[in-house]
Amino acid sequence: MRVTIGEIREMKQRGEKIPMLTAYDYATAKLIDEAGVPLILVGDSLGMVMLGYESTIPVTMDEMIHHTKAVVRGTKHALVIGDMPFMTYHVSVEDALRNAARFIQDGGAQAVKLEGGEVVAEKVSRLVACGIPVQGHIGLTPQSVHQLGGYKVVGKTPEVAVRLLNDAKALEEAGVFSIVLECVPAPLSRMITERVAVPTIGIGAGKYCDGQVQVISDILGLYTDVVPKHAKQYARLNEAITTAVTNYIAEVKSEAFPTPKQSYEMDESVLAQIEA
Ligand code: KIV
Repeated sequence: MRVTIGEIREMKQRGEKIPMLTAYDYATAKLIDEAGVPLILVGDSLGMVMLGYESTIPVTMDEMIHHTKAVVRGTKHALVIGDMPFMTYHVSVEDALRNAARFIQDGGAQAVKLEGGEVVAEKVSRLVACGIPVQGHIGLTPQSVHQLGGYKVVGKTPEVAVRLLNDAKALEEAGVFSIVLECVPAPLSRMITERVAVPTIGIGAGKYCDGQVQVISDILGLYTDVVPKHAKQYARLNEAITTAVTNYIAEVKSEAFPTPKQSYEMDESVLAQIEA
């Protein structure tokens, strides 16, 4: 059985912290799921960390569905959330419904996430009314990077802090099952977390959130050039992969690989028959 949105809500009520990670492919999703992560986000960060785009803005619905299907195939227990790409839920409620439905129907996800607060509240309530669980996302919303003027902390001034509080309230009223707070100062995250009944899931939002989300390539140390301040590397895959591949190249060149152990044998008399 997969984790349900009700169980996620109950975790907040019990004071049990909620771990969430991104995944974009079958193999990683399988490992994360088997390790016991209850929430897996097929984030549109896919565009930056897996597809090499400069931002999340070029990511398409087709790309998201392709990767969501792979993640769903790799998981048995986690609740899988599909991240709605830029401009797939902004133009109209109809657009939002049609695209969210693709995540659930074609992708096999159990929920969708979309960025924004009050401005998307009507769309959220229509999705929820149609039976689609929605996760909100406020603070640094990467799809608005050009409006925000870069990837930076959001909510340090009284005006913006009040706006974030109102956004969180509006999302809660619209029916979200949880809210991602990205790059929000820790004291403000604490206030938001205390004032909404739904779980808050922080990334760069301090320890008071009900849960934490990280981009999988950040915690595994896949890259060394871009390491966000809020990420902790629990492994150094970059070094592990480089060492493995360097050793492989050297062994192929020196003929140390393959050994008989990695070779398949046959009765050589067969070859003698061919030659004859
Ligand atoms: O796309 C993503 O990975 C996200 C997380 C950072 C929450 O939105």
